[in-house]
Amino acid sequence: MKSIVILGAGGFARELMWLIESIGNWKILGFIRSESQGEITELHGYRNYPTIGFFTKDYPNYADIYFCLGAGSPKVKESMDYEARAYGLVPCPALVHPDVKLHPSIQLSENVVLCEGASLTVDITIGYGTMLNLHCTVGHDTKIGDFCTFSPGVHLSGNVVVENNVECGTNSSVLPYCTLGVGCVLGAGAVAVKSIPAGVVAVGIPAKQKG
Ligand SMILES: CC(C)(COP(=O)(O)OP(=O)(O)OC[C@H]1O[C@@H](n2cnc3c(N)ncnc32)[C@H](O)[C@@H]1OP(=O)(O)O)[C@@H](O)C(=O)NCCC(=O)NCCS
Repeated sequence: MKSIVILGAGGFARELMWLIESIGNWKILGFIRSESQGEITELHGYRNYPTIGFFTKDYPNYADIYFCLGAGSPKVKESMDYEARAYGLVPCPALVHPDVKLHPSIQLSENVVLCEGASLTVDITIGYGTMLNLHCTVGHDTKIGDFCTFSPGVHLSGNVVVENNVECGTNSSVLPYCTLGVGCVLGAGAVAVKSIPAGVVAVGIPAKQKG
């Protein structure tokens, strides 16, 4: 059985724990929160380490231990990833809820997370560290970059491009042929009817740059 440690100990980290338990075949070694001070505590019966340094004292031979990214913010995921790789932990393969069906034309990078109820069709690629939360849908020929976060109920139509580090709020939607630029944020409930430029926060229907 492969061993995994969850980076983060907040809400999404605990949801990820449940997803990993549902998948099975993984031994969860614990959570790593990010406090320079503090004790090793317990969280849902697993060790809850204050830093990666505390974790590696318990597991000196940690080069075959996988890590996953238990955070929603793209920037936080990116910095967690950087630190874990610097220590030599291994990025885990995509974590996919057992009820999610995947067509062979779908390509998933490492550290992708597909939560329960995610529905994807065909010819879709999803980049490193990207998470689709509960009941997201993704249509054909859609390409999603790295470290993106899709909150519950996001709908991406076919032929959408999502660049790196994009965040889409709960129940937002993107119409066909739109591109979400690097680091943009689509607010909860928004509908992108045309492309959103990099770095912009857009809200409403149709989605417009927040004033
Ligand atoms: C869009 C968003 C990122 C903006 O966050 P923010 O910059 O902190 O915005 P504020 O809360 O300060 O609100 C600023 C203004 O935008 C409006 N606004 C915020 N979010 C909005 C949304 N989703 N749709 C429409 N208007 C919104 C607010 O009403 C406020 O308007 P006002 O200035 O007229 O009062 C955020 O509100 C959002 O939608 N995040 C997604 C959260 C989510 O889905 N989380 C799921 C976790 S699982």
